[in-house]
Amino acid sequence: MNFTRDDFPKGFLFGAATSSYQIEGHAQGGAGPTHWDTFAATPGNVVRAENGALACDHYHRYEGDLDLVRDANLDVYRFSTSWARVLPEGRGGPNPEGLDFYDRLVDAMLERGLKPAATLYHWELPSALADLGGWRNRDIAGWFGDFTEVIMRRIGDRIWSAAPINEPWCVSWLSHFLGHHAPGLRDIRGTARAMHHVLLAHGTAIQVMRGLGMGNLGAVCNFEYAQAADDSAESRAAAARYDAYYNRFFLSGIFQGRYPAEALEGLEPHLPSGWQDDFATITAPVDWCGLNYYTRKLIAAGDWPWPALREVEGPLPKTEMGWEVYPDGLAHFLTTTAREFTGALPLYVTENGMAGADRPGQPDQPRIDYINAHVDKVRQVIADGVPVRGYFLWSLMDNYEWALGYEKRFGLVHVDFDSLQRTPKASYDALKLALTRSC
Ligand code: FCB
Repeated sequence: MNFTRDDFPKGFLFGAATSSYQIEGHAQGGAGPTHWDTFAATPGNVVRAENGALACDHYHRYEGDLDLVRDANLDVYRFSTSWARVLPEGRGGPNPEGLDFYDRLVDAMLERGLKPAATLYHWELPSALADLGGWRNRDIAGWFGDFTEVIMRRIGDRIWSAAPINEPWCVSWLSHFLGHHAPGLRDIRGTARAMHHVLLAHGTAIQVMRGLGMGNLGAVCNFEYAQAADDSAESRAAAARYDAYYNRFFLSGIFQGRYPAEALEGLEPHLPSGWQDDFATITAPVDWCGLNYYTRKLIAAGDWPWPALREVEGPLPKTEMGWEVYPDGLAHFLTTTAREFTGALPLYVTENGMAGADRPGQPDQPRIDYINAHVDKVRQVIADGVPVRGYFLWSLMDNYEWALGYEKRFGLVHVDFDSLQRTPKASYDALKLALTRSC
């Protein structure tokens, strides 16, 4: 790596992130069914119809996995709790094995000197709640608040930070408008409702955790730099629409108690009645903001209903996801988030990383280059006064990459999905060296 710990302010934290469904092995330990199990079982949704039933078997191998986090000299482990593992029916009686698992997991982090950074929801909605309309049903805010209370009563005393929902855009737009993720819907009304309810659930969970006396609570959103594909006024307006519903909708809701005008143009007719009254909950104060960043998109106008735009293939080098490598976008979002939304609040890069075609023993240089280029931007914006306090890699190890199955490998650690053997990649070794503590 082209950086060391000493290039960052004292106390700056490095971490690695994962999520429950992507690594645990959902079929084990008494977890209930989720909408990802059935989405994956429906032909055409997921590469080879793969699912998270076994994944990395982290459920049984978490001690060794946490050893890997510690041995990389990382400070923070960002993980998520599976709603259906804790409450198999989404509501009602908890699964004692599930609660015990997260209890052990958090203790195992603390034993290794790692800071546990919990995300309450990283996408596997219990099927029983999906049956009731899932994120389109306003009641989800209350169900989510109840889940928050159950899991945090058990582990909330020992975690370092908590965020309710990973990437509200993916939970709502990607899953209800584009149909790429569970529940695979393509409906503007359902999308608008999901976008609003996901924020209502976020605020509700923040209030529940405050009520339990917890601190260091945040929000984690994802961002894609939206650039007009050409100089036309139409393309520029299309990129502004993309930016509004993707990058600004959720931050505006949480930090300003309103939605951007360019997003309301298309969404307002579909929002639930009385939506403005929910901002009192949605703006429940948070202590930090997390940004997940991977790429940019070139956007042109399209001759069809709102948002009337399309993505155009860009010229920059791409990762295995087909995503352009564009580190300037990370600097852009860190800077604008602080300037327009969060002020002096600590910011964390809660996800950044790339999928590579690597095998153990083969060069992992593109990932090292990707990390270097993005960490460099973090360093630059800190020098400009942006309060970035940490940088977390996606991901600790290769895992279930949602609709792309096990094909896309984001890990610092290679996983052989037949033997489940873990093998650190060159990027892992380079990071470990860069993060060696001097004393
Ligand atoms: C993010 C998700 C994470 C993973 C990475 C590649 O959007 O939070 O689960 O899929 O993308």
